[in-house]
Amino acid sequence: MSRPIRWSTDTGPDHSRWYVDRFRQLAAEGADLGGEARLLDAMVAPGSRILDAGCGTGRVGATLAARGHTVLGVDADPVLIDAARADHPGPRWLVADLATLDLPASGIAEPFDAAVVAGNVMAFVAPGTERDVLTRIAAHLRPDGIVVVGFGADRGYALAASCGMPRRRWASVTTSQPTKANTGLTLPTPTAWGVQPALTPGNPQRIQL
Ligand SMILES: C[S@@+](CC[C@H](N)C(=O)[O-])C[C@H]1O[C@@H](n2cnc3c(N)ncnc32)[C@H](O)[C@@H]1O
Repeated sequence: MSRPIRWSTDTGPDHSRWYVDRFRQLAAEGADLGGEARLLDAMVAPGSRILDAGCGTGRVGATLAARGHTVLGVDADPVLIDAARADHPGPRWLVADLATLDLPASGIAEPFDAAVVAGNVMAFVAPGTERDVLTRIAAHLRPDGIVVVGFGADRGYALAASCGMPRRRWASVTTSQPTKANTGLTLPTPTAWGVQPALTPGNPQRIQL
């Protein structure tokens, strides 16, 4: 690990365990944990290779795998990766730091069609590594691959602009803006979603689904 991630430094010692239990409980209660996965599924071809970057307990990657995609989940937290392996056999789950990600060095050479960075991953990376994380994710995609980044819009951070991919291939998904106002889309989830190209607030470009 290059630098300690905020997920470790800004949370308590039992946080990972608590997080695993929380998502297991939500799943047991029948909560809808697949919204981001459904969105990505609508954006990619059937049977795509998808990198779940910062996969946590695997809720997004597992839903994508159930929809027929080939998923590799990567997370720095071994407690969460253990939970993903236990709860969602099928996809491959790896412990690794996204800031220095080098999957070919682990024998995974084939590029991905898309990457999903869901659930505030970018708010929990090590300070100052945001650009490295996005650059290393982009480095594992095929030339016309896409990245979808999801986060709460009220966390006060912006994505770096130069990470080696054209802006049109980035999308951000936020949870505090009405969907229709941004995209004209109504997504199949009770949550209010906004979908917009990242990096340039106010950019009138729209995601073409
Ligand atoms: C709020 S959790 C989201 C987990 C999952 N994406 C989800 O939405 O259910 C944030 C995750 O980002 C991971 N993370 C943060 N920085 C990372 C890094 N540099 N490399 C790999 N994982 C990282 C943490 O370990 C944690 O699992």
